[in-house]
Amino acid sequence: MVIKTAEFVKSSGKWQECPEPILPEYAFIGRSNVGKSSLINAMLNRKDLAKTSQTPGKTQLINHFIINENWYLTDLPGYGYAKVSKVQRREFEKLINNYILNRKNLVNLFVLIDARHSPQEIDLEFIQWCGESGVPFSIVFTKSDKLKPNIAIKNVENYKAELHKTWEDLPEIYVTSAEKKIGGDEILKFIRETNEFLVNNSVTFEE
Ligand code: GTP
Ligand code: MG
Repeated sequence: MVIKTAEFVKSSGKWQECPEPILPEYAFIGRSNVGKSSLINAMLNRKDLAKTSQTPGKTQLINHFIINENWYLTDLPGYGYAKVSKVQRREFEKLINNYILNRKNLVNLFVLIDARHSPQEIDLEFIQWCGESGVPFSIVFTKSDKLKPNIAIKNVENYKAELHKTWEDLPEIYVTSAEKKIGGDEILKFIRETNEFLVNNSVTFEE
């Protein structure tokens, strides 16, 4: 997909404050610091569109971007950020869960997982919740440049085996690096094809 335009729309503290849900929307989610904002920038080939940081917890609001004046890309706050109070963490979780369950135009959620680690409880729980809630999602491994290729493959296979303990069918899986600009094109291809499918089947989100 050619990115002709990519613009920041707004930051929202509640799902009710998000832009009108009249265009297909794709959202990036995952643990704080997993690389959501970096991958959005790399994929769109825009350096500082989504704000990134070495300090976890940078993205604390729901950030909407409009791409080619035709679909929304959403940068969600990271879950499981340890350095805030329990109450604040629960508030974040509520914000994220409410957004996911109530956003009518949300077509697909990209769940980002750091490719370097073995499966973590917090991610597995989130994936479990998506599956049980019927939320359409894909899995995106990030920071693959930090691993030797054979280790990256091994970690992905290991993750699949973990998911197969619960699920027979696995979601789409992407292996990416924002640093090396790997994998973003595959995600954009999926979005383009999905948008085409929606148009061909006259799916709209207007009231
Ligand atoms: P929050 O907004 O805090 O939830 O974080 P985030 O998930 O948006 O992460 P962000 O994109 O801000 O990246 C966190 C850190 O990881 C930054 O220091 C990035 O430079 C680094 N990083 C992100 N993606 C990659 C990658 O593909 N490779 C490498 N080597 N570093 C990355
Ligand atoms: Mg971020």
